Amino acid sequence: MKQKVIGIMGQKGGAGKSTLTNIIPNEILFKYSKRKKDCKILVLDVDTQRSNSDLRERDVDILKMEIPSPFYDGLDKDDQEQVRLMRTKFQFLNAKYGWKPYELKTVEMEPNSINRGIEILNSDGYDFVFLDFPGTLDQEGTGDLIEYVQYMFIPTAKNTYDINSLTRFIEQINDIKWERLESIVFFFNKFEKIKDRQYNKVQTEIVQRFGYPFMRNRINKTSIVESDYYNSLLPMSLNINLNTQEVYPLAGVNFSQFTDELLEIVNHNNKA
Ligand SMILES: Nc1ncnc2c1ncn2[C@@H]1O[C@H](COP(=O)(O)OP(=O)(O)OP(=O)(O)O)[C@@H](O)[C@H]1O
Ligand SMILES: [Mg+2]
Repeated sequence: MKQKVIGIMGQKGGAGKSTLTNIIPNEILFKYSKRKKDCKILVLDVDTQRSNSDLRERDVDILKMEIPSPFYDGLDKDDQEQVRLMRTKFQFLNAKYGWKPYELKTVEMEPNSINRGIEILNSDGYDFVFLDFPGTLDQEGTGDLIEYVQYMFIPTAKNTYDINSLTRFIEQINDIKWERLESIVFFFNKFEKIKDRQYNKVQTEIVQRFGYPFMRNRINKTSIVESDYYNSLLPMSLNINLNTQEVYPLAGVNFSQFTDELLEIVNHNNKA
């Protein structure tokens, strides 16, 4: 199998699993697009909260929306502006780099849908498949899909960090009969440089207690993910200036650097 199955998973309570399962695939794809290399990525949304499925549905509606139309005309000025901006940026990246975002499929927690998910995982049709799991692994049905994870990335947000729920999670994964698992790595999300020492302390504690390594790159806390602009269609690390036709990294946002390290891990040190 060439396909790599990645799970950004772990503790419940908003550590950023769904957010990063949306962001990282587009960051990978953008790296490949820039180099004119093909890459196919699928996000399988296994979480009944449907965070990423709902986001993608909204985004597809935005791309398909007719302007003008009764629906568009009914939006307030800010939303109209946001819709036009996203569409224009999408078209711009598509024309310049042949840009396409990741594919998304939703897995419902019923046998037929789970079986379809498993078929996809067995079909080896993608370069990368990302699975978005709920915060607990007890959800009926997720068990069959978890076994496919090869690379597990565990986000830890210091403010929601809870050693008890983490301990439970680690116990749960230790009980799973892994056939394909290659690595388990922790990382910090919502990192704030001024609290560096507190992060280092938590990192030492987790490494000592569970023995799993941390990623060098810590994902900065950023307002982009809470903004109206947040979407599933575009690389979130980019600033796209439509006037000057320039594309450059958004200051303070380090999704791209993090993605390089993630690719090093899953490609065993071969860069994309
Ligand atoms: N790097 C970041 N900077 C700022 N806010 C972030 C960052 N990553 C995630 N968030 C915010 O944290 C909140 C929780 O994120 P998310 O829904 O991705 O967590 P989750 O781990 O999927 O939670 P759940 O266990 O409920 O599925 C969201 O409001 C999201 O916008
Ligand atoms: Mg989630």
